[in-house]
Amino acid sequence: MIKVAMMVGSLRKESLTLKLGEFLKNRYSDKLDVEIVNIDVPLYNGDIDNDADRPASVTTLFNQVKDADAVFMVTPEYNNSTSGVLKNAIDWVSRSPYLNNKPGLIAAQSMGMTGGARGYLALHEILNRIPMMLLPGNDILLPASHTKFAEDGSINDEGTVKFIDGVIENFITYYNKVK
Ligand code: FNR
Repeated sequence: MIKVAMMVGSLRKESLTLKLGEFLKNRYSDKLDVEIVNIDVPLYNGDIDNDADRPASVTTLFNQVKDADAVFMVTPEYNNSTSGVLKNAIDWVSRSPYLNNKPGLIAAQSMGMTGGARGYLALHEILNRIPMMLLPGNDILLPASHTKFAEDGSINDEGTVKFIDGVIENFITYYNKVK
């Protein structure tokens, strides 16, 4: 079982990004032990970036990332980019060594037909700065996401589910090679 810390880039209760994250958590629960971590942390401020002043929520986030075998990030697309919420959490965690050499996977969604591709690419660009080990060549992009989720949280599009199954298989193969 691979222990995954999942960062979801939207804080709203009915978030489609959260729905995508929960889909990944639930569908692959026999292979991945996914914990959706709280990234509702204060804005990064260098004045509180020290052991005495660091917010407790940030210390918790550090520990959750540290204890995970892998990190997944799921992003919405805001103004052609990732969300400020996710970028802020990444800025905090990048001040620790815990993302370094961590196998990772990113996914995006949007209600439009691009599937959040620009949010995905912006997130990819940010993570290029951090020595994570992102699974290359496997993009989970969910277009028209508001039409895709059934009441029980499953995705009602067989082709998409098959594709995501393949990406997760590829991630597990990749994880076992790089770990
Ligand atoms: C958006 N949305 C959006 N969608 C898109 O495809 N491209 C974009 O550039 C943007 N920009 C954008 C900016 C801001 C500030 C908001 C609030 C929204 C729509 C957005 O992707 C959609 O509302 C998602 O459902 C938001 O994700 P959650 O909260 O459902 O996870």
